[in-house]
Amino acid sequence: MTTTLFTNAHIATGEPGSTAASTLPLQDILVTDGVFTAFGPGLAQQYEAQGGDLAAIEVVDLGGKLVCPPFCDTHLHLDYVFTARKPGAVNESGTLFEGIQRWSETKSDLTVDEIKQRAKIGIKKEMLHGVQLIRSHADVTDPNLTSLKALLELKEELKDTVTLQIVSFPQEGMYSYEGPHGESGAELVEEGLKMGADCVGGIPHFEQCREFGEHSMHTVVELASKYDKLIDVHCDETDDPNSRYVELLSALAYKAGIGPKVTASHTCSLGSADNAYFFHLTKLLKAAHINFACAPTENLYLQGRQDTFPKRRGITRVKELTEAGVNVSLGQDSMQDPWYPLGNGNMMLILDYVLHLAQMMSFEEIDDALKFLTVNGATTLGLRDMYGLETGKPANFIVLDADSVFNAVYERCSVLRSVRAGRTLFT
Ligand code: FE2
Repeated sequence: MTTTLFTNAHIATGEPGSTAASTLPLQDILVTDGVFTAFGPGLAQQYEAQGGDLAAIEVVDLGGKLVCPPFCDTHLHLDYVFTARKPGAVNESGTLFEGIQRWSETKSDLTVDEIKQRAKIGIKKEMLHGVQLIRSHADVTDPNLTSLKALLELKEELKDTVTLQIVSFPQEGMYSYEGPHGESGAELVEEGLKMGADCVGGIPHFEQCREFGEHSMHTVVELASKYDKLIDVHCDETDDPNSRYVELLSALAYKAGIGPKVTASHTCSLGSADNAYFFHLTKLLKAAHINFACAPTENLYLQGRQDTFPKRRGITRVKELTEAGVNVSLGQDSMQDPWYPLGNGNMMLILDYVLHLAQMMSFEEIDDALKFLTVNGATTLGLRDMYGLETGKPANFIVLDADSVFNAVYERCSVLRSVRAGRTLFT
């Protein structure tokens, strides 16, 4: 039996109200065989009182720092990372659509080994910023499915250090893409699900016409039901307020009874839609219980490109969705790829951006902000059962260089330690 006692922590579970003010008593955390077995003050004394020998177990003093569940990055493209400077890949206009074109024109030389090498660097960057759960899209509009093969191999190889979910994602469209042997994007998405991808992807706003986009939403829901998979759609990633695929996706998910398994990523068009439409849509979103993933830095950079001034910010309605009780989580989306030249996996920075862009800066909202990176992320991933600071759950947590959630956000603090199944990954 392996036992570790972590002492002197301020604890923030990520749940509403767990702000871990620095005035609260310090807590200890007991971990046995990789599972949380107790939380509370004075566990060292209790352990000895029950006949335990502290000298025989590992005791780690956390020095009054803030402990929270590991961060989730619910939207990333690990197959794209560090390709921004490839010859021909440079995105001159800074638009989403040139990014897709550049990627399409330069992706033919990818290999499984090369993708894995880059993706590992990206994962390491994320993990050093406290991330332990990542949902990555894998472009399957490639008859060889090279990206998917690479990321599925990594998922298995790295499962003890990071939880990877892989989306079978048709970057060039389900019905706009046609492969060299006539394969449709939809057929390749299905092939990806058979190979082991966790989620069905889609990109309706990129399809050649509205009908193709709508057709793709029906296909996404049919495939998810057929193979019992999650859904994560790049949905309405445009400033066009008439791009309303999130409505169809939500309605289909609601009818199929699979809303909590569905994520609408980006949904930038909601930032341009009028309030009357959003008011009506909110009722459906609440009934369907779908999740949203927002990538604030990416869309701040990519959107508003056809605007002069006033120039739109490009992000979805994080504040309004949250106030309506809809689950919203966050993603880095890109690390130096044809869509975005920066991105280092620092989810505290992503959070900082979204709090500013969504104007969520009341003291209550700041105190509550870690939920976007923690419990909301785990909800999007459908992994809440195995996630969180509760006895009986896997002992996964991170230690932040702060003594309260407010100070963590205020200082844009760094991550001091990451623990997975009781084992310290780094410190
Ligand atoms: Fe994306």
